[in-house]
Amino acid sequence: MCGIVGYIGNNAVADVLLNGLKNLEYRGYDSSGIALNDNHTIEVYKASGKLGNLYQLYAKHQPQMANAHQGIGHIRWATHGKATIENAHPHISNDGKLVLVHNGIIENYKELRNKLENQGFVFHSETDTETAVHLIDREYKLCHNLETAVIRAIKQLKGAFAFCIMHADETDKIIAVRKNAPLIIGIGKDENFIASDIPALIGKTNQILHLNDEEIAIVHKSHVEVKDTKGNTLNKTIEKIEFSPEVISKAGYKHFMLKEINEQPAILRKILQKHLPKAEDRVALADSKLNIDLSQVRNITFVACGTSLHAAYIAKATWEKWLNIPVEVVAASEFIYRYNLTDEHSLVIGISQSGETADTITAIKQAKEHNAQLIILTNREDSSITHYSANVIPLEAGIEVSVAATKSFMAQLAALYWTGMYLSEQKDNQNKFLPLKRELYEIPALMEEILSDLSDIKRMGEKLSKFKQIFYIARGIMLPIAMEGALKIKEISYINANAYASGELKHGPIALLDKDTAVIPVLAQGAVYEKTLSNCEEAKARQANIFALSNNDKDKEAALFDEAIIIPEVAEDLSPLLMCLPLQLLAYFAADELGREIDQPRNLAKSVTVE
Ligand code: AGP
Repeated sequence: MCGIVGYIGNNAVADVLLNGLKNLEYRGYDSSGIALNDNHTIEVYKASGKLGNLYQLYAKHQPQMANAHQGIGHIRWATHGKATIENAHPHISNDGKLVLVHNGIIENYKELRNKLENQGFVFHSETDTETAVHLIDREYKLCHNLETAVIRAIKQLKGAFAFCIMHADETDKIIAVRKNAPLIIGIGKDENFIASDIPALIGKTNQILHLNDEEIAIVHKSHVEVKDTKGNTLNKTIEKIEFSPEVISKAGYKHFMLKEINEQPAILRKILQKHLPKAEDRVALADSKLNIDLSQVRNITFVACGTSLHAAYIAKATWEKWLNIPVEVVAASEFIYRYNLTDEHSLVIGISQSGETADTITAIKQAKEHNAQLIILTNREDSSITHYSANVIPLEAGIEVSVAATKSFMAQLAALYWTGMYLSEQKDNQNKFLPLKRELYEIPALMEEILSDLSDIKRMGEKLSKFKQIFYIARGIMLPIAMEGALKIKEISYINANAYASGELKHGPIALLDKDTAVIPVLAQGAVYEKTLSNCEEAKARQANIFALSNNDKDKEAALFDEAIIIPEVAEDLSPLLMCLPLQLLAYFAADELGREIDQPRNLAKSVTVE
């Protein structure tokens, strides 16, 4: 949450910063700001609301910004204090000379603020961040050295932070420092960059230096020094990243979400080629790292949040029977506050698209402290969560820009299928799953079939946009997919949508059904198909409007349904891989019909780096 950028070099600083912030908008979009260091004077420009407002402000003041050679910028997802200009970053010291941007939460800010106020520092915002500015400023006034002041100040902070800091009298550097919040340095020629994430650097440089917790980067125009908190210089390796500007372009689609939905067949094909080069062979690890002693594992726990949690529930449905080991799925935010029974006989698997979700990282940290074996599934191999285990399975979905997860969810499912098969084959020391593996190969083409004609899904999505309440119902392996469908439509269309185990309807939720409600049964032929149909009858009898998603052709004309979208039939265990597409598309078309800001829904951010 929140994106930060910094730049020192000869190019137009404000342009570089605004461009960087544009590519970090997925991290928050409540307010934004930039600060420039121009001839020993700090200029701060801030705007509330979308980044476009800051662009407008910039357009007015452009000439004043022309001579600056260093600057920092921020895009905010509000935690402490509303999305006002006062609370927007950058925050500045009382003498106007020291300025900083922050991503994270300073937990002991109240106590520090009290002390600083008693010492005469004047606060202008409700943020935790402003405490850090005055704290560093207090230290600076004692030592007159920005690097030393920052080192002294961060030792007094509790919580998570990534900071970029500038001082009007130290025009040759920007200081960057992090603890439990992401921050990278982009290395250019006679210019250097700081950013929360790679998209801010795409098109600027492909040379990256990763900062670890409590490492301090002193970023000059010509070079970067990295030190520990004792002041020792560290030897850091510069890595090359492969992202091209296309990954952050909409490529002609109206929204990133639609582009990312359409990328799914190609992503799945690539994943299968890598891990299941031939259906007849055992699942291959390719270049993923996995060192698990399954003989020691007595229980498996998945920890994740949101969409990633739904992927975990789908894995539970297959892994328990494939591995014959009990599997539980726990929301990371619950895991971290419950009595922890995890031990050396537990395998704990963290799933996180971003790899920066605070709750999931804490859950994994706790599991590690309890000596559990760990596996991490993430779309970002360079993310914070990967520091806790060498067993990292990359999702390989490519950068996902839309806040609503789509292609990363499908890639999580794919990774969970092949990892579950891999572990099962290891456990039993034999080649298994031949029919399933063969069928997996068919799925990318079947996805393309669904994507080739969106007219029915679009029409149904537009109809759904008229309802105030939508019930997604399903059983078995389709229940988590229904949960994901409900989350998707809720987060981008703001319609109240909830998923229920269809057998649970009659135990309460059925009281809410009437002619103004929509019910979406998610049906896959298999063990519980007929049972779910009976639950649809119960809903129909209460006059609910029933819009089915099914893989049974017969459902197209069934009198039970007001409308039905039929997708190709595959084995029940694999059906979530196909069914996720129409559910994502229904949400997309409903939200588009309502004119919502699909890629940046209100109140949300893509990486939830606070508890
Ligand atoms: C997905 O559409 C959501 N935006 C959200 O639920 C997300 O899945 C959740 O915050 C977890 O994120 P992660 O996978 O990056 O950990």
